[in-house]
Amino acid sequence: MKKVRVAVLGYGHLGKWHCQKVDAHKEIAEFVAIVEKFPAGQEAAKANHPNVRIVSDIKEVINDIDAAFVVTPTSTHFELVKYLLENNKHVFCEKPVCSNDDEAGKLAEIAKGKNVVLQVGHSERFHEAWDKLRERMQKLTPPFTVRINRVAPFKGRATDVDVVQDLAIHDLDLMLYLFKQKPLEVTARGQRIRTNKWDHANIYLSLEDKCDAHIVVGRNSVKEMRDLEVISREGMLTIDLFTNKIYDATNTTFDDGSFVKEEVYSKRDHLLLEHGHFYKSVLESKPAIIGLKDGLNAVHLVDCTLKSMETHAPVKVNLG
Ligand SMILES: NC(=O)c1ccc[n+]([C@@H]2O[C@H](COP(=O)([O-])OP(=O)(O)OC[C@H]3O[C@@H](n4cnc5c(N)ncnc54)[C@H](O)[C@@H]3O)[C@@H](O)[C@H]2O)c1
Repeated sequence: MKKVRVAVLGYGHLGKWHCQKVDAHKEIAEFVAIVEKFPAGQEAAKANHPNVRIVSDIKEVINDIDAAFVVTPTSTHFELVKYLLENNKHVFCEKPVCSNDDEAGKLAEIAKGKNVVLQVGHSERFHEAWDKLRERMQKLTPPFTVRINRVAPFKGRATDVDVVQDLAIHDLDLMLYLFKQKPLEVTARGQRIRTNKWDHANIYLSLEDKCDAHIVVGRNSVKEMRDLEVISREGMLTIDLFTNKIYDATNTTFDDGSFVKEEVYSKRDHLLLEHGHFYKSVLESKPAIIGLKDGLNAVHLVDCTLKSMETHAPVKVNLG
């Protein structure tokens, strides 16, 4: 079987895990190179992957690869993805695929007519909880309210971007993925606490069918919380993504007389699944499971949110 020749760009916090997943797909992926700009990362990459070429610039290996994983800081994504597409390489780019609507428009133009796979790393779509709950969620009777928390104590990471680009993008993408009611308008407020960028955000989305969502993200919180709650006339459903539990409080009583049912779901290796889908799409010439349009829509919601935070005014959503 033909193997996909790959390079991983960026050997930082997440790049290390991507390299591990390339190794885990030896039968379909040939690990050609790690591209890391700085010496400390290059040394670490060399120690952990002695048989892989370690280089500092993608141009050094562009003719030796079929595909690349872009796991560099968000501010570099646009230029790297553009370069890879222009060289007709398949691309897996970590979220966000680019930094703003302006770059998104340019990427869409560059990608037009290219016969390559472009997958975006919206890894939060891979929770087993969504598989279990999809049927129930899609049958929700509007209007419903969604409430999402994604907060954690300060970790000092991803400070090249604000908390909306780093964390809220997961939840804005989940809103598009899980619910058929599309966002119409965003009203958001934020705080700069520890960096000169937004460290905390309260995002309110008006959705179709009189539904709404309230997303809270923060990177300077007192404790870690990651959960999603849906409240409708059928009851309340809470998914704790931190403890992998689902709590269901319906409008009826369960067989054992209780009002709340608790269920545990399995934790999955999202990155492993993402790699598997990517190689399959490349080898079988199939569209990416999470493609450029998904990535650009998430970037647009981020852009709307940031505009609302800057202006203290509601911003209309205009999805592609
Ligand atoms: N899907 C998720 O859940 C998830 C989780 C964490 C991070 N991410 C995303 O992954 C990306 C990387 O995050 P991270 O936490 O690993 O960052 P990081 O800062 O730890 O690592 C980035 C690495 O890229 C290197 N680098 C910078 N410019 C480069 C270039 N032009 N060529 C090659 N190497 C370069 C840096 O030296 C660094 O080692 C970000 O876009 C982030 O949003 C996604």
